[in-house]
Amino acid sequence: MSRLKFSILFFLVLFVASESRAEEEKVAELKEEFNEALLLRPLPDRKVLAHFHFHSSAPPTRTYGRHHYLFPKSIYQLVHKFQVREMELSFTQGRWNYERWGGFEPISSSYAKPPGVELWAEFDVPHHQVDDSWKNLTHALSGLFCASINFLEHSTSYSTPQWSFRSFSGKLRYGTLPREAVCTENLTPWLKLLPCRDKAGLSSLMDRPSIYRGYYHSQRLHLKSDEFDTSNMSTGIVLEQTLTVVLQPNTFSEKISQPSWSLSSLFGRKVSGKCSLSHSSNLYVQFEQNLLSKVNELWGKSEASKNEILINESVQNNPLFELSLPPKRVIKEVENLQKEGSILFEFSIDNYDESDPFDLGLKWKLPVVWSCRQAPLRASRFLLGSGNERGAIALSMKSTRSNNIERAGFDEKECWLRVGIFQVVPWYVKVYYHTLEVFLDGELQSTMDNIEKIHVSPSEDKVSPGVMEIVLRLPCSVKTAALTLEFDKGFLHIDEYPPDANQGFDIPSAVVCFGDFLTSMTFDDNSLQNIPILSKLQENTPVISYTEVLLVPLTTPDFSMPYNVITITCTVFALYFGSLLNALRRRAGEEERLLKAKAAKKTGPLTLMLSRLSAKLRGKPWEPPQQSSSTRSSINYKLIVKVALVAGIGVAWHYYFQ
Ligand SMILES: *[C@@H]1O[C@H](CO)[C@@H](O)[C@H](O)[C@H]1NC(C)=O
Ligand SMILES: *[C@@H]1O[C@H](CO)[C@@H](O)[C@H](O)[C@H]1NC(C)=O
Ligand SMILES: *[C@@H]1O[C@H](CO)[C@@H](O)[C@H](O)[C@H]1NC(C)=O
Repeated sequence: MSRLKFSILFFLVLFVASESRAEEEKVAELKEEFNEALLLRPLPDRKVLAHFHFHSSAPPTRTYGRHHYLFPKSIYQLVHKFQVREMELSFTQGRWNYERWGGFEPISSSYAKPPGVELWAEFDVPHHQVDDSWKNLTHALSGLFCASINFLEHSTSYSTPQWSFRSFSGKLRYGTLPREAVCTENLTPWLKLLPCRDKAGLSSLMDRPSIYRGYYHSQRLHLKSDEFDTSNMSTGIVLEQTLTVVLQPNTFSEKISQPSWSLSSLFGRKVSGKCSLSHSSNLYVQFEQNLLSKVNELWGKSEASKNEILINESVQNNPLFELSLPPKRVIKEVENLQKEGSILFEFSIDNYDESDPFDLGLKWKLPVVWSCRQAPLRASRFLLGSGNERGAIALSMKSTRSNNIERAGFDEKECWLRVGIFQVVPWYVKVYYHTLEVFLDGELQSTMDNIEKIHVSPSEDKVSPGVMEIVLRLPCSVKTAALTLEFDKGFLHIDEYPPDANQGFDIPSAVVCFGDFLTSMTFDDNSLQNIPILSKLQENTPVISYTEVLLVPLTTPDFSMPYNVITITCTVFALYFGSLLNALRRRAGEEERLLKAKAAKKTGPLTLMLSRLSAKLRGKPWEPPQQSSSTRSSINYKLIVKVALVAGIGVAWHYYFQ
């Protein structure tokens, strides 16, 4: 009996234990998480790229509920109110230099953004509600980030990409404000979304003067939610906040060598410990392969021992550079046929605090020159033509020649390079899409031969912008390719001009996408998928670059005209009345004396007639001229002539200037 009891008890205990473990697993799965990371990378032009990456996630509401202790409430409400499936908002100052800072790697493809504000969002609402949701979302975001994002609510300022921009669902809206200035008032609300703000952790490095002194500055917020999916595999809301800055270390080293830097010299601050709410808090220093091959050259070792050199010895003891702290681990990217891998040194800031702040330094020992990987074609856009009536937009693409081994889509015999272009043009630049011309290596081609797919929605005056989506199919051997499109410049109503209309009007950046070329980092170690920044870098993303913003001068009215008219009219009136009053009121004694002297002479018949006329004008009976009255009438005669003259001048002036 007692044995039976015991065994029952035993099973009960086992059951309860297993139950609670299952519960625990479930709870562990459904956890809010926050991660922070910073990636630093020396750039070939003596600058340093710093990429802050903050990752917050909230489990689905259906299983977890609505209360969060880490995830920002405002973002949660935004997602639920407007049923946002995916959204990206970026504030950028400066332009990413694809040539020098890299054009074929995950950071340039995912985090290099066009100047100003770019917003795109995909909604989970019926098609007819998408525009309303977009409008309300722009207002909410504009309040949240202290920026004029609400200007994107007008149908003239956003567009609906059909297939070239990320999604095929037709529920995506895209808008940009190229002229939006970005400053601390946008950064502060963005930092407010982080659990530690900028008080602790890696974000405490964000010293405003250091960050805004940089050459490029892009603050981005990306959120993805599958809250409204009916399947039970949903992951909830994932919020990714990144700040990408390119800084110039201020050292006084010779021109040729790379400048040495440390966190405190770059940002003017050190990291005093991690954000205690953060799950992981890591700093990575990345060295590109082109740079690492220099190490190997200098080291003079055989190809076989290369990995060992990099992983075993390069850290403290290599001929090129020296890191001030030993890394926690070294992560080597897997090499494949297409590319050689870069290398990441990982540092953890868990064990540092106020008294012992974390400060990493990099010291270069030898001058080194290397170059970044480039996209297959480098795109740039410019305007043709002159005058205020018409012009043309040209998009030129030059082969970078660095990828001639990496051939993308093979057709039967030939090799083709596919280039997707997405371009939005405001309605007042009236593009004639039938004038599209394609030049390959300077020669005009028949357009249809080189276009694989095209979708154009022409602009409608004061209603919608013009959108062009195009996939070009170029032979791989192409050296230069160019597209031209002609346009007429439209006229705006006086209310539609911005305050500084004479500066010109911006045409937003075009997006050039090389869909056949995917960029990602690959690591052997599967556990690295758990670190958000590394799992993000391991995602396959197509190579994307943005072109320049174009500045189109339009005919602008002379806004100072009303002012000019008012001032000239006032001047004329002042002259007229001034002289009139002067003439009417003057009784100079000297003049009278002069007239007395004149009257002493014989009065002529003309004087007689005039005095008669003046008497009539004054409505008095005419008196034969006497000594005294003749004086007076003579005064009146002069007076009348003067008044008439001034009035005449005044009227003539008035009519002439009208
Ligand atoms: C957008 O906001 C307006 C005004 O507040 C409201 O009437 C409308 O229902 C909202 N639409 C959506 C889709 O949220
Ligand atoms: C989803 O949940 C339902 C019950 O709520 C279950 O029957 C179904 O198997 C689940 N599906 C998946 C893919 O987990
Ligand atoms: C360093 O290299 C040696 C061989 O040169 C190897 O045995 C050792 O495992 C390496 N250490 C690490 C940490 O990779």
